[in-house]
Amino acid sequence: MRLVVGLAGASGSIYAARFIRALSYLEGETFLIVSPPSLRIFSEEYETQVKTPEDILAFLRERYGLGDVHSFKIRNFHDIGADIASGSNAWDAMVVVPCSMKSVASIHAGFTENLIERAADVSLKERRRLVLVPRETPYNRIHLRNMLALDEAGAIILPASPGFYQMPKTLEDLGDFIAGRILGLLGIEHQLFPKWEG
Ligand SMILES: Cc1cc2nc3c(=O)[nH]c(=O)nc-3n(C[C@H](O)[C@H](O)[C@H](O)COP(=O)(O)O)c2cc1C
Repeated sequence: MRLVVGLAGASGSIYAARFIRALSYLEGETFLIVSPPSLRIFSEEYETQVKTPEDILAFLRERYGLGDVHSFKIRNFHDIGADIASGSNAWDAMVVVPCSMKSVASIHAGFTENLIERAADVSLKERRRLVLVPRETPYNRIHLRNMLALDEAGAIILPASPGFYQMPKTLEDLGDFIAGRILGLLGIEHQLFPKWEG
């Protein structure tokens, strides 16, 4: 499994955190791209100071523990000439978690100013799975139209709306719900929450 994972500047760092944690126990590799707003929001939401993607991985290792079978390859948000800026490099799927309305708008418009937006654009043109986890409330009509257009272009919109029927006890449980739903869309088995038995 070869993934591209982008962290854009929306609230909901816990969704990214728990998804990265879950990936860390799975074989494969992830190209990780972190936007500057996302670093700021992660710092605020976890009451810490992360200045780089490496800081995020180090923080998560300390906070939650990370597995060591998955290889995280950090790519610079501003490097639109990085390997994953080109469709000639193959990956199985891309996930943007959380995804801001600004990144939603840019990806929808094909306006690829940074590596998250460029890799998402490449994913769509190469017909690779693209999962966007938007977080905003309420949505205005521009947000809704952008997301509808992205769905029509082949992306999957997986809103950061965790279910409560699994009786979550912690914020991490809520994060795991979304992380598990993303993994499900990537065809990856997980035990982050029990399947609904009816
Ligand atoms: C504390 C904080 C929280 C934010 N939360 C959201 C959010 O939940 N959803 C959203 O669309 N934008 C949110 N924003 C605004 C985005 O970070 C901003 O539009 C930024 O340009 C997104 O850029 P990026 O997608 O390239 O990271 C937030 C900004 C800050 C500082």
